[in-house]
Amino acid sequence: MMLGTVTESEGDTNLTSRRTAWQAASIDTPTARLLARDEQVFLRQSVSTPCLNAVRKAEGVWIEDVAGRRYMDFHGNNVHHIGYGHPRLKKAIADQMDALPFAPRRYTCEPAVQLAEKLAAITPGRLGKLLLTTGGSDAIEVAVKIARAATGRTKTLSFWDAFHGAGTGAAAMSGETLFRSGPAAPLVAGALHVAPFGGYRCPYGTTSPEESGTACARMIDYVLARDPDVACLVAEPTRAVPYVAPPGFWAEVRRICDRRGVLLIFDEIPTGLGKTGRMFSCQHDGVEPDILVLGKGLGGGILPIACAIARPELDVAGDWAFGHYTHEKNPVTTRAALTTIEIIEDEDLVANAERVGARALVRLHGLKERVGAIGDVRGRGCLLGIELVRSREGREPDGDLAEAVLYRALDRGLSFKTTMGNVLTLTPPLTVSEAEMDKAVAIIEDCLIEATAQRPH
Ligand SMILES: Cc1ncc(COP(=O)(O)O)c(C=O)c1O
Repeated sequence: MMLGTVTESEGDTNLTSRRTAWQAASIDTPTARLLARDEQVFLRQSVSTPCLNAVRKAEGVWIEDVAGRRYMDFHGNNVHHIGYGHPRLKKAIADQMDALPFAPRRYTCEPAVQLAEKLAAITPGRLGKLLLTTGGSDAIEVAVKIARAATGRTKTLSFWDAFHGAGTGAAAMSGETLFRSGPAAPLVAGALHVAPFGGYRCPYGTTSPEESGTACARMIDYVLARDPDVACLVAEPTRAVPYVAPPGFWAEVRRICDRRGVLLIFDEIPTGLGKTGRMFSCQHDGVEPDILVLGKGLGGGILPIACAIARPELDVAGDWAFGHYTHEKNPVTTRAALTTIEIIEDEDLVANAERVGARALVRLHGLKERVGAIGDVRGRGCLLGIELVRSREGREPDGDLAEAVLYRALDRGLSFKTTMGNVLTLTPPLTVSEAEMDKAVAIIEDCLIEATAQRPH
């Protein structure tokens, strides 16, 4: 939908009439007061402020609002891989605060080194030396600076429609109007883009995921052949929409990058640490990046921490200070990250995400057979998408139906977000049980059937 002149790409915005109607029916007086205070003191911004509702508790897969209603959180900003408030993580953080609450710059500490060693051990192939930041956007920018230093080149190539962060550099590489145009611009110069791969809606006009991948890889090669200043390609191996890369796509792109002397940076800020049913999404494709960027779930849904981990040979910028962040070796955030990874391993959560996600995908395909408004279902593990259309033939995106389903689902205790306006995007924690996933799919089915019956013809 359009907000002024800005194309709204996220869907469930803070300004629609459906949101106003939901709030009028659902928000109690204490919540309304808190929302009003929030609006008084926070600058307004698209997608988040004014807020939809207020939470008072987050535990496991659940969030609870101020009025006491509980929702299964199938969004969670992709931070809640291990579920909210995991007791082992809370204890580890508390113990670390007692033992050593902070490490000033120029001093290292045991948890920071242990985390770095752990990340070097679990990330693919040769990735082995890293810098830490508090947020994903910063980590993306660190990765690009490393690539610049290593290649002696300055430009970046990335996908339209991607999101890599809100910072000026990360937004330059992102491809959504909301984050990069108007007053956000001008951004960092030299950020080139190509249209991404996509099966159901291919910007290259192809009709299958394989053809889409081929067209996209060709365009990457085309651009890189013409611009020798590109240092790196920055991309999400599994796109957030979600779109799974067709088999062989990343292997081909890896070959192109090697041929052109361009480094491959994978942004696995939402998908890393098991979200897609492998520890890293790029492992589905058997392709190793030169630099991998992680964030979000790394802090276990409690603390902010992100990293850019590179091949050791890329350690060439010792005279500069790309990771000069106040909390770069914070013992508490690094302890949180280390414990989060240990929990993911010890509780076998990656396998759970794969198993529960595969079962959900089967059920969603069944749902597609029954509900004509579903144009496509896709995804992997705990990253699933249901694309709603006005008609299967025309494939016109049905953002209005998506929003109607979203608010109905909230009334039944399920929270998720929409992507590109019309894709119901489910990103539950890796701890999600089959029963919880089944329940979510059943809620969506009921809401879809009801909302479809009421949609204008
Ligand atoms: C793919 C991707 N990259 C980067 C970011 C930015 O991370 P952060 O919000 O921690 O800066 C996000 C956040 O949504 C993301 O989804």
